[in-house]
Amino acid sequence: MKLQPELQEYFQGVLPNIEACIQEQLDSLNSYVFPVASHVLGSGGKRLRPLLCILMAGAMGHREASVYPLASALELVHSATLLHDDILDNSELRRGERAAHLVFGMKETILAGDALLAHANKIVADYGNPDLVNCISEAISSTVTGEILEIQKMRQPNLSQAEYLDIIKGKTGYLIQSSCESGAILAGNRSAEREASRQLGLNLGVAFQLVDDALDYSPAPDLGKPMGGDLREGKITMPLIHFLQELDAEQRERFLTRVKDKALSEKELEETMRCIRSRELHIRAREEAETYLQAAYQALASLPESREKSLLVRMLEYIRTRDY
Ligand code: FPP
Ligand code: MG
Repeated sequence: MKLQPELQEYFQGVLPNIEACIQEQLDSLNSYVFPVASHVLGSGGKRLRPLLCILMAGAMGHREASVYPLASALELVHSATLLHDDILDNSELRRGERAAHLVFGMKETILAGDALLAHANKIVADYGNPDLVNCISEAISSTVTGEILEIQKMRQPNLSQAEYLDIIKGKTGYLIQSSCESGAILAGNRSAEREASRQLGLNLGVAFQLVDDALDYSPAPDLGKPMGGDLREGKITMPLIHFLQELDAEQRERFLTRVKDKALSEKELEETMRCIRSRELHIRAREEAETYLQAAYQALASLPESREKSLLVRMLEYIRTRDY
């Protein structure tokens, strides 16, 4: 994650504490769970959720070390969802490494994910604050619902923009929302600021995902990053949804089945990517992200001035201008 210098400096300051706290939590896990949890937690995650939690707590005046277990718990929940997600998606790679279920076994990985989730809940419960427990539990429950919605909708021949937005809110938005909201709860739980933190988190999460979708179809020649990884993996994201909407019903159904089966030839993959790019359907996804970024800026504007508030503004700028 190439952050703007001020944000990078802040991040470098808090990162060792986040890492130390995650390690401490890992060390307290059962020896069967430890290797699986270490595999996913040590594979180079961006720590976006802990960072947002710490920034939000700081923006509301809470700048104490007591934020770190909460921040780490969010990364634990995120990691548990990834362990399960790679099984559901039958993915072989996660962050460039072999997915945990291929290294440790499917059953072991499902159970390690459950254990990690339970451990994260225990960390949160130890704060003795029912609002915090509620916030994280609701986020977990909405994430699961988002994943179920995705599985159901992906079986349909038609996926609308609105349905896709609901899926990404569920899969990624609500946990990012709770990262911000839990920081606000820890900092004093004032209702107006708590609502602002919810709006900020959800809108930031959706914008982040839409930009990510767009970048997958954007050329990045100097980095040599292959384009269209999502399409190759049979993933349906916003640029592809726009593309599908331009086909007639029969063509769409046939094409979609082949995408999901990962049955497209190299020539078809390239042709589809060229078409998406020449019609700038990926740019359209970025423009859609703009609506969510504006809502996130608006939510932030209602908070009192602070160093952390201006860093959160930087974070939104980073998402808006991200080019890889
Ligand atoms: C990644 O999406 C998926 C998620 C971030 C959420 C996965 C949620 C679950 C499996 C259900 C909840 C599980 C627990 C333990 C609470 P993706 O497959 O589009 O992205 P990817 O490329 O990162 O795999
Ligand atoms: Mg996946």
